[in-house]
Amino acid sequence: MALSIDSRVKLNNGVEMPVLGLGVWQIPSGGPTTRAVTEAFASGYRLIDTARIYGNEEGVGRAVRESGLPRDDIFVTTKLWNSDHGYDAALRACEASLKRLGLPHVDLYLIHWPVSGSRKETWRAMEHLLKEGKARSVGVSNFMIQHIEELLVSSNVVPSVNQIELSPFLHQRELIDYCTKRGIAVEAYSPLTQGRRLGDKRLVAVAKKYAKTVPQILIRWGLEHGLIEIPKSDREDHIRENAAVFDFEIRSEEMRFLDSMSEDLRMSWDPTRVP
Ligand SMILES: NC(=O)c1ccc[n+]([C@@H]2O[C@H](COP(=O)([O-])OP(=O)(O)OC[C@H]3O[C@@H](n4cnc5c(N)ncnc54)[C@H](OP(=O)(O)O)[C@@H]3O)[C@@H](O)[C@H]2O)c1
Repeated sequence: MALSIDSRVKLNNGVEMPVLGLGVWQIPSGGPTTRAVTEAFASGYRLIDTARIYGNEEGVGRAVRESGLPRDDIFVTTKLWNSDHGYDAALRACEASLKRLGLPHVDLYLIHWPVSGSRKETWRAMEHLLKEGKARSVGVSNFMIQHIEELLVSSNVVPSVNQIELSPFLHQRELIDYCTKRGIAVEAYSPLTQGRRLGDKRLVAVAKKYAKTVPQILIRWGLEHGLIEIPKSDREDHIRENAAVFDFEIRSEEMRFLDSMSEDLRMSWDPTRVP
């Protein structure tokens, strides 16, 4: 079936997650976040990606509560920060996030970064949060194969999602294949290269062919690879533009061309060497 803004991916625990969401990193807390999320809802987005470290959970929660949308239609993700690892600390961190969001549960709670030493204990807390219904699903972010393998040795709960940096410039195929084989959905962060490669001539040429913009090509590239995409914007026009990606398909020839652009380019941090 053709993808639409209402398309959802069924996670390994049966929970359904929208394929397109709004990332809110670097959107100032309070009004600007609430406005961006409200605009996203008006444009049809139903997934919002925040984190404790973004400092804007309150603004996300307000927009969710004031949206008038059924809570079940909206999918809220937040993340456990690096200083909150360990069993008790993780439980407290989740409670604090829920309080700031003003919500009884989140739809996805992610370990933000594979901090060495305490990952297993933290994952035990994630299992507890799942059981208690504080999180409808739990997952990880920035986890490489070795970090996931370590979790799977000590736990029967397979992460539902791994959120990693992905774009045609960083196409982590081996990791995507590994996750897919184990039923872990892959979510792409910084899908627009944080705005830094939007002028790439090759991308501009592909965009022109489809009468689309470069951000739309980047988002569609991810969707066609089965990824969940969470572009960030706090501009009304960009939020709308980034959702207008369901009225075209990128032909396999251009998909292959975009795939060939991978050069291991990372915009943020690099988890590959975390022991
Ligand atoms: N788990 C992690 O470690 C991690 C790390 C990084 C990000 N993330 C998540 O992923 C989300 C997205 O990644 P990101 O924020 O790093 O970067 P991104 O989505 O790749 O790019 C955002 C940048 O692109 C610009 N932009 C957005 N739409 C545009 C458009 N249509 N035309 C031109 N420019 C446009 C934005 O500016 P305007 O706002 O002005 O539109 C902003 O400067 C984050 O917000 C966060 O939720 C997670």
